[in-house]
Amino acid sequence: MHDRIHHEGLLERRMSAEQAAALIKPGMTVAMSGFTGAGYPKAVPQALAVQMEEAHARGEDFQIKVLTGASTAPELDGVLAKAGGMELRLPYQSDPTLRKRINDGELEYIDIHLGHVAQYTWFGFYGHIDLAVIEVVGINEDGSLIPSSSVGNNKTWIEQADKIILEVNVQQAAAMDGMHDVYYGTALPPHRKPIMLVNPDDRIGEPYLRLDPDKVLAVVETDAPDRMTPFAAPDETSTQIAGHLIDFFGDEIKAGRLTDKLMPLQSGVGNIANAVLGGLATSGYTGLTAYTEVIQDGMLHLIRDGVIRVASATSFSLSPAGIEEFNSNIEFYRKRIILRTQEISNHPELIRRLGCIAMNGMIEADIYGNVNSTHVAGTAMMNGIGGSGDFARNGFLSAFLSPSTAKGGKISGIVPMVSHVDHTEHDTMLIVTEQGLADLRGLSPKQRARTIIEKCAHPDFQPLLQDYFDRASRESFGKHTPHLLDESLSWHHRFVETGDSRPAVAAQA
Ligand code: COA
Repeated sequence: MHDRIHHEGLLERRMSAEQAAALIKPGMTVAMSGFTGAGYPKAVPQALAVQMEEAHARGEDFQIKVLTGASTAPELDGVLAKAGGMELRLPYQSDPTLRKRINDGELEYIDIHLGHVAQYTWFGFYGHIDLAVIEVVGINEDGSLIPSSSVGNNKTWIEQADKIILEVNVQQAAAMDGMHDVYYGTALPPHRKPIMLVNPDDRIGEPYLRLDPDKVLAVVETDAPDRMTPFAAPDETSTQIAGHLIDFFGDEIKAGRLTDKLMPLQSGVGNIANAVLGGLATSGYTGLTAYTEVIQDGMLHLIRDGVIRVASATSFSLSPAGIEEFNSNIEFYRKRIILRTQEISNHPELIRRLGCIAMNGMIEADIYGNVNSTHVAGTAMMNGIGGSGDFARNGFLSAFLSPSTAKGGKISGIVPMVSHVDHTEHDTMLIVTEQGLADLRGLSPKQRARTIIEKCAHPDFQPLLQDYFDRASRESFGKHTPHLLDESLSWHHRFVETGDSRPAVAAQA
């Protein structure tokens, strides 16, 4: 029997990626595996993109609606975007080609909390799912599936789709078998039951994805690694941001609000989040836990060094060096990592019960603590909200991290009013830049403004923000959350007009 495919019937359904892609028809809603560059199908989307381009060359329409777990990679989002093959995409993405298409207004992109995607599918909010394309590590004798380097929404896609195409990827380590925990206890409201997970290392489900083999149209064998760009080495700015947060943890322990085991950590995507994990590596902590979305390189190193004893997530997000480290020490890591469905990794009930410490990047925050994670100048999509809202809203602590300036100092990360709101002032406890950390807990709007301006703003922008706040405090229509409405978005406007949000520089331009 084949090495990875142990179900006789499914063995007979093997075919080429081109043959499988030909089963996907224009207008279909296709749900695909994949989460932050891990566990996405690698062959069928590429073959499909070629077929789309051929159809377009013949003057035919060929677009589909694509649902995933989160971001994928050039072999999925990149090629389908380049082919102009997506009429709709949801949820999170981070592909440059796709981002450009979205910002050129060429497709519909729906940005949703990652913890909501599965249930909204079950509620019927996204309509009917025609086909699922899912990468797996292997197929068991009974047809159940060994999940790959991400679980994401695969349980929902497999159950909800009419038909299924499987990609069995021999590059994914067979020894991942047993790492996953797929929960089958979800029901529709009002019949939901409490989810009996009370520790990050609790297993509440099954190691395999259930499958009705009759739904499988095709099995495609692949041999290609997940593709993630390496993380940038922590620079001075990200090291300072990490330092402020780690000092804060120390102060919280002294104040008796945290113990030296902290609380389960959630760490977002990006270089700064990775640097914070790097900072924790040298801070003397041991035996911590993580209840998070992704295991990135920094998290893997913390597990290797015993700083984190167990990490629960829905996906890996490893650089090539990280994949090598994981595969070489897989027996060690499989005892310490659990991959769950994203509706469980990002579940509000569980995040609140466990008391996660949420640490996420941001585009900008305003002086009152509202946070924009997604839109440059309020209109251009960067990536998406990802899981930041799932964790920030429900965490024991919620921190947003960013350099105090962007684009070589032309843009301030702290602005009078955010140009788009992902996280309201009610969900933001800590704002951290390389300048310092603003602890907003228990503060009124005006107290928050003074703290954020003092602690987080870059010296180039601090006097401007102070001047704005002082004048707003005198002249604002209401004095509770003072604003000058004709001026509050002028920094963004200036950036759009001149490429620089600084007034003096813009005046010279
Ligand atoms: N205005 C314009 N551009 C800005 C900006 C601002 N205020 N702040 C950041 N950027 C740009 C940077 O210039 C950079 O652009 P580049 O790639 O062209 O150089 C890009 O955003 C990334 O910023 P960087 O400082 O490198 O930080 P990062 O890698 O930590 O990413 C986010 C920051 C906000 C884009 C990222 O954290 C994100 O997508 N967050 C939302 C999703 C999320 O939080 N998920 C967490 C759960 S998985």
